[in-house]
Amino acid sequence: MEQQRAIIVTGASRGLGFELLDLLIAADARPMALGRRLDPRHEAAAAKNACTFVAADFSELPSLDKIDLASALPQTVDEIVLISNAGTVEPIGTLGFIDSGALVKAFEVNALAPAILARKLLAVADAQGIRLRVLNISTGAAHRALPGLASYCASKAAAAMIFDCFAAERLDVVVEHIDPGVLNTDMQIVLRSAADQALPVRHMFLSFEAEAKLRHPRDVAREILARAGLL
Ligand SMILES: NC(=O)c1ccc[n+]([C@@H]2O[C@H](COP(=O)([O-])OP(=O)(O)OC[C@H]3O[C@@H](n4cnc5c(N)ncnc54)[C@H](OP(=O)(O)O)[C@@H]3O)[C@@H](O)[C@H]2O)c1
Repeated sequence: MEQQRAIIVTGASRGLGFELLDLLIAADARPMALGRRLDPRHEAAAAKNACTFVAADFSELPSLDKIDLASALPQTVDEIVLISNAGTVEPIGTLGFIDSGALVKAFEVNALAPAILARKLLAVADAQGIRLRVLNISTGAAHRALPGLASYCASKAAAAMIFDCFAAERLDVVVEHIDPGVLNTDMQIVLRSAADQALPVRHMFLSFEAEAKLRHPRDVAREILARAGLL
């Protein structure tokens, strides 16, 4: 019998998350998008129940914690799949210059919100006696110190470690880290637009574009979903 899954994509308003959600809608998987907003192209799909949208700002942790996910998710599934994709590359800047508040927000968005979400979904999965699987959209920057990107590198590394601890605590929870490579999304535009002083490795991001190394997020989304058996 075919598996019934509840698939949640965070940060589906643009970039990789948009494409992941779009492909899942096209595959009739009825995914849930969780984030600050939904792209207008997906509002029509939500109106026809081809997907659901739950509003959540990952930099507002107390309100994220209060969201009733159990009621928002279907009750008759075998598995919950969290695709933890939402992320921010800001603040960009060397440690002596980045804003402390922005640094805290980056950890909230990139590491703490995914952890809170995972444990909320674990509670739902345990209550229903079903499996939980987490696909953590990670990055090479989680393992590589890049000057000007301490906030991004460290918060993405923290997310990976939180999920690894989670997997070590709960052997029945499947955690997969996925490095999507460099993508042609807003995140790369933000990196290319940074000041050289703030981002000493800006030339690297300029070269990704100049050498046509940026991949289209739709191709990468398709590969991720196919490899995960979700398409
Ligand atoms: N682009 C790359 O080259 C690259 C490389 C390696 C890994 N990645 C990873 O791939 C993932 C997707 O990146 P992307 O390039 O698609 O990024 P993107 O185009 O900048 O999109 C980021 C997504 O995260 C959401 N988000 C940001 N702040 C949020 C908040 N406070 N609350 C809720 N959602 C929030 C955004 O929603 P809003 O529209 O509301 O801001 C948007 O949907 C990230 O985890 C990133 O670390 C990207």
